[in-house]
Amino acid sequence: MAYYSGDLIEEVISQNDIVEVISEYVTLKKSGRNYMGLCPFHREKTPSFCVSIDKQIFKCFGCSEGGNVITFIMKVENIDFWEAVEMLAERANIDTSRYEVKSYYNKMDASKKDLKETLLKLNRDVGIFYHNNLVELLKEKENPVKEYIIQRKLDAKTINKFGIGYATGKEPLYDHLINLGYTKEEILASGIILENSSGRMYDRFYSRIIFPIFDIRDRIIAFGGRAFSSKVLDKTIPKYVNSPENDIYHKGKTLYLMNFAKREKLDNIIIVEGYMDAIALQKFGFENAVASLGTALTENQARLIKKYTDKVIVGYDQDEAGQAATLRGLDILASHGLNVKVLKLDREDVKDPDEYLHKYGPERLKKCISNAISLVEFKVSILEKNLDLDNFDSKVKFLTGVANILSKIDNNIERDLYIDKISKKYGMSPGPILKEVEKGLKKKNDNDLVLDMQTLNKKMQLMTNVRKRQEQYIVALLLSKKKNIQDEILNNIKSSDIENEDVRKTFDFILSLKDNYDINKIDILSKIHDEAIIKEITDIMYIDISGYEEKLLQDVLKNKKKEKLFIRRDEILKRISEDISPDESEILKLELNQIIIELSKLK
Ligand code: CTP
Ligand code: MN
Repeated sequence: MAYYSGDLIEEVISQNDIVEVISEYVTLKKSGRNYMGLCPFHREKTPSFCVSIDKQIFKCFGCSEGGNVITFIMKVENIDFWEAVEMLAERANIDTSRYEVKSYYNKMDASKKDLKETLLKLNRDVGIFYHNNLVELLKEKENPVKEYIIQRKLDAKTINKFGIGYATGKEPLYDHLINLGYTKEEILASGIILENSSGRMYDRFYSRIIFPIFDIRDRIIAFGGRAFSSKVLDKTIPKYVNSPENDIYHKGKTLYLMNFAKREKLDNIIIVEGYMDAIALQKFGFENAVASLGTALTENQARLIKKYTDKVIVGYDQDEAGQAATLRGLDILASHGLNVKVLKLDREDVKDPDEYLHKYGPERLKKCISNAISLVEFKVSILEKNLDLDNFDSKVKFLTGVANILSKIDNNIERDLYIDKISKKYGMSPGPILKEVEKGLKKKNDNDLVLDMQTLNKKMQLMTNVRKRQEQYIVALLLSKKKNIQDEILNNIKSSDIENEDVRKTFDFILSLKDNYDINKIDILSKIHDEAIIKEITDIMYIDISGYEEKLLQDVLKNKKKEKLFIRRDEILKRISEDISPDESEILKLELNQIIIELSKLK
């Protein structure tokens, strides 16, 4: 990664409106001068995540995360500072090369950044190596790999587009990487090469067909390798082997082929399970297909999808679809505001979309896609599948289950429509279902009430932390643009007077800016590397003290004085209770009297 001058930071902040950027991750609603939404950094039911268009900052009043557009991207994408800057620069079409500084050296993250860089480059070299292996094998007249590739209907265009490759043997890759100049440590950090007990280095993926896994910026971050032909019949050999997670690969944040699927606005995204399914779909023109690679869907994946579309169609293997982990994944998608539909293949003789496409073609799959059922209908159908509806007890169970599913729907009209639809479909009268749903709803409302009390309590706790708030005022006053106020604060308050550690650190940080206390220059946040200070400053930036500066200043100074008197009072009381001379006791009592008088004046 190149090094950039600080001007790039300012450019990135001014070219990426925070409301627009955050809207790609969070549904925001305007509320006065601010925008509110559900915080992406903690689970919540009522919005406490606030974005200020004026100040170009965000703040969550639930979990206290806060910062500017760069900090937001760092957190939500789990990337470091300069990566976030680059990503936002790309988003705003800023030409970063103009800001490159050759000698700039940031010691802080240099080593970590370099390892990431190296791993990305290494993965690319590995990808090319595997791909060339396969290309060579396909030139031969015949061999088992070629036979398998043909059998799976992977044509040359597909192999090229998705960088598919082959890992020939245990040794060649390591030697190749050493020849390219990588160190043993770097190679091992990639997880592609493993070291056996006798110190021999070998390729994790040997004798496997290789699928490179890309991030959304087309960089290879991992590999998946499939055993081919007869090997799969040997149950001791796993069908797929994948790169382990490391600095550049986070499984739960990745969707395979998302880099090919991503468009400005997609009508929908099709999520399937396997490498071969996503590839087959894209090959047949379904360019909005991605794969979750056999794991249950995560919050991060939901957020990634939400950037491009509001609608997902999930096409899992028939046997996988009903599993608890899958259902939880689908619920996660729905809870992120995605409209989730479930694809049902209309043939039982194929296992997955890949097989379906090759046997029945894209037109017929298109029909299945347009017939995809809603998540609610899907859940009901699973319930039904596991029960024998001719049996009385099972029927009761079914009804209760259906009511349970329906009572989770927030929209009344939608709920009623489902009651109607389901009662018709299963030949039941809607009355009892409705009754059960109402029971479920009541329970849910009670639960919500408990939940709300909890958030309320939490907020109360935040509010009643009066002392901290008082100390925040000190910083807020320091940041007010009024010179006389700033001077008063500087003359009367020392850093050590501030009890709360985060506020104290913030106070110190602002003092370190010397005479430039203009925190409203938003890029200041980018100069802070301490999380606690960022949180604290954004908190303080939300305190609007304009018009109240004088009064607050008096309050702050008065409190300060009171505090000192209290401390002295307690010291005296302690001393008096000890074994001291009558003279000293007399003097202390006089002082104590004086303090009490002063304190009563300050009330
Ligand atoms: N998977 C894995 N490890 C395994 C099995 C599966 O990582 N031992 C992941 C792979 O990403 C795979 C996905 O789960 O693509 C789905 O598995 P499966 O349905 O068994 O395989 P397919 O993708 O259908 O592969 P193929 O068609 O080649 O059998
Ligand atoms: Mn398959």
